[in-house]
Amino acid sequence: MKRIVILISGRGSNMEAIVDACAAEGWPASVAAVISNRPDAKGLQFAAARGIATDVVDHKQHATREAFDAELARVIDRHTPDLVVLAGFMRILTPGFVEHYAQRMVNIHPSLLPAFTGLHTHRRAIEQGCKIAGATVHYVTAELDHGPIIVQAAVPVLPDDTEDSLSKRVLAREHQIYPRAVRWIVEDALDLRDGVVVHRRGEPQLVL
Ligand code: GAR
Repeated sequence: MKRIVILISGRGSNMEAIVDACAAEGWPASVAAVISNRPDAKGLQFAAARGIATDVVDHKQHATREAFDAELARVIDRHTPDLVVLAGFMRILTPGFVEHYAQRMVNIHPSLLPAFTGLHTHRRAIEQGCKIAGATVHYVTAELDHGPIIVQAAVPVLPDDTEDSLSKRVLAREHQIYPRAVRWIVEDALDLRDGVVVHRRGEPQLVL
């Protein structure tokens, strides 16, 4: 049984989707812990109610990114994870931390990477007149919102969309693709070929 540790900063709806999928489908993995950098993260209550271990590593209690990341890694590693899942974890990570979890840490980002790295992805997509938007699950590398792409979901941008309406449409897709990507990883269904992630049985890595 593989062990997953999920990092959140707030609402935790992607974390919920992964916890539910994990429980419902008899996965070869379980969620060992949910860890937040914010003591008031709403998602912590959901995890605790499901009997999952929760921890807080408050970034405000650490003077430097290095000190925060060192403590975070110590707390994560107590749970001996096979996979670390960033689910709305809104901290920039140091290269040493990323290296420590190389090939075993994934992130979801609310855009069709490599477009719109960083914040306010939906607002920027609307401002740029994009006709398509989406979300990406990728392995984490030292460069922010980069790293080999595991799966993407695309949704239309409608003429009367607001940041809020577009983010809701994308979030619904995030909840589909993130559990799917995590399952592929814990099943060892993915290969990395020349920096590109390929599903060994050819399952579609695009949701439309
Ligand atoms: C999600 O939309 C996720 O893609 C985004 O934060 C939201 C978290 O929602 N992540 C990022 O922007 C990371 N760069 P959730 O807490 O309900 O899962």
